[in-house]
Amino acid sequence: MKTNVIYNENCYIGIKNIPNNSVDLVIIDPPYDIDTRRNRIGYNRIAKSILKVENTLLDHNLTESYDFSLLDELIRIMKKVNIYIWCNKSQIEDYLKYFVDKHKCRYEILIWNKTNAMPLYSNKYINDKEYCLYFRKESKCNPATYEDARTVYTSPLNARDRVLYHHPTIKPVDFIRRMIRNSSNENDIVLDCFMGSGTTAVASIMENRKYIGFEINKKYFDISNARIEKILEEKELWK
Ligand SMILES: C[S@@+](CC[C@H](N)C(=O)[O-])C[C@H]1O[C@@H](n2cnc3c(N)ncnc32)[C@H](O)[C@@H]1O
Repeated sequence: MKTNVIYNENCYIGIKNIPNNSVDLVIIDPPYDIDTRRNRIGYNRIAKSILKVENTLLDHNLTESYDFSLLDELIRIMKKVNIYIWCNKSQIEDYLKYFVDKHKCRYEILIWNKTNAMPLYSNKYINDKEYCLYFRKESKCNPATYEDARTVYTSPLNARDRVLYHHPTIKPVDFIRRMIRNSSNENDIVLDCFMGSGTTAVASIMENRKYIGFEINKKYFDISNARIEKILEEKELWK
């Protein structure tokens, strides 16, 4: 499997081409309606609210079932369990059961605190955070600075990036760079099965890691590649 490539395909199919024990770090940000733990790629109830901003699955009519779980495949391809997963609150329990109870991993809960969340708090708290779970087993987590060791990353929801890269759920590249620095070494391979606008690839390039990505949506696939090209040019200029 080639590295430094994003494949424009369904990751449930593409992941089968990745050899056992070959990936150092996984960072995934599945649409929150995908059920990675079981074997379904269709919608669940959580989907309804998320679909307002994330309707890419609808574009592809993906409602297939597979006779394997994506998480089992990720366990197969990682050298050691070393994985960050963006998720919503109601998915946390399932991920803990899978990685901590079943696979005896250590875990951490990281949070992106958005400082400019919508001020909607009638009978509820403001929706001003996103969760990213980190699971590892025998793999290292070595933050080099106090800043890198923090579990909460605070920044505004970056409207400029969302407009620039046309992706509704783009994540902050500096936060992903921090995860990569803390949990991998230079030249390691980082996999992202749901590349979106290419944030993990860009962060990997900036941190001198290799990447493998999947993105099913041609529009986002093209956006990712344009973003990667730009960052490679900038990197050349920094030299
Ligand atoms: C939440 S977004 C990822 C956003 C990304 N973290 C970023 O910063 O831009 C999820 C992405 O996964 C893609 N996707 C959904 N199902 C997929 C599948 N089965 N295989 C590959 N990509 C998929 C969607 O098109 C969407 O762009």
